[in-house]
Amino acid sequence: MPGPVLTQTDLPLPRFGVGKVRDTYDLGDRLLMVTTDRVSAYDCVMPNGIPGKGEVLTRLSAFWFGRTAEIIPNHLLSTDMGELPPEAQPWREQLAGRSMIVRKAKRIDFECVARGYLAGSAWSEYRASGMVCGVRLPAGLRQADELPEPIFTPAIKAESGHDENISLEEMKNRVGEDLGQALADATLAIYAAAASYALDRGIIIADTKMEFGLLDGQLILIDELLTPDSSRFWAVGEYAPGGSPPSFDKQYLRDWLDSSGWNHQPPAPTLPDDVVAGTAARYREALEWLTDEPMR
Ligand SMILES: Nc1ncnc2c1ncn2[C@@H]1O[C@H](COP(=O)(O)OP(=O)(O)OP(=O)(O)O)[C@@H](O)[C@H]1O
Ligand SMILES: [Mg+2]
Repeated sequence: MPGPVLTQTDLPLPRFGVGKVRDTYDLGDRLLMVTTDRVSAYDCVMPNGIPGKGEVLTRLSAFWFGRTAEIIPNHLLSTDMGELPPEAQPWREQLAGRSMIVRKAKRIDFECVARGYLAGSAWSEYRASGMVCGVRLPAGLRQADELPEPIFTPAIKAESGHDENISLEEMKNRVGEDLGQALADATLAIYAAAASYALDRGIIIADTKMEFGLLDGQLILIDELLTPDSSRFWAVGEYAPGGSPPSFDKQYLRDWLDSSGWNHQPPAPTLPDDVVAGTAARYREALEWLTDEPMR
């Protein structure tokens, strides 16, 4: 069973950033990334946490970093909390299982997205123009259809508000031809390997976002990798094109929020126990289906 729910941290270390889900601390040339049990929906963080979620996300990222290291190196150094600085040692038990020590890199400010299916902002773009991020797609595709081949659809990381989708050409104009192509190639190679692995285990990875950085001139993968928070997961048995297939992890939560009449403005309503438990079970399933590893 997972440890107690953790939705906030306040370690005596300099903060690097606070996201919707993760608290990141600056360790000099390294970072401590703590994945809390916070959950967001409709871009808003819910008041309750989901037990075990931080552990699931951390273990999935670590799993995929291990499996993709031959394609491209990544920032993961250790999940051993014995390596925490002395001032954070008293929190070691709370952080174990949900935290990573990573190499700090110079972030490349683009979201590198691979898509194998037509969903989300890609479906909206396709309906409006027949194209997605500069890639022309065949006519007559339905929502959630599988694409003839996976496509690379980068976006500019916006400091606030929504990320802006751009074409590979536009990205190359900004970062240079060689780096742009390397980002596209690495993103698509990782997606292809992960999507085929996951499909054999009953999960469709419809699309996924990754981030890269430069360290001593070398391109490395940073941030999280192929988690339900950075990707769109569908259960094979629930998949049908022509509509929006249920989200593997968040459908239970979204269905309840929709029925609650909440207007998607903060504060979000407190989630009932059964919604928390149902959502926690889906995260656990994602980990178990993909890695064959049970939760602690
Ligand atoms: N190895 C790394 N070196 C430098 N920066 C990193 C590294 N790994 C991740 N980052 C950056 O650290 C930040 C982690 O923040 P996090 O994902 O928690 O929040 P966010 O992206 O700002 O918000 P959210 O994901 O909730 O929308 C991101 O800006 C990410 O790009
Ligand atoms: Mg993020």
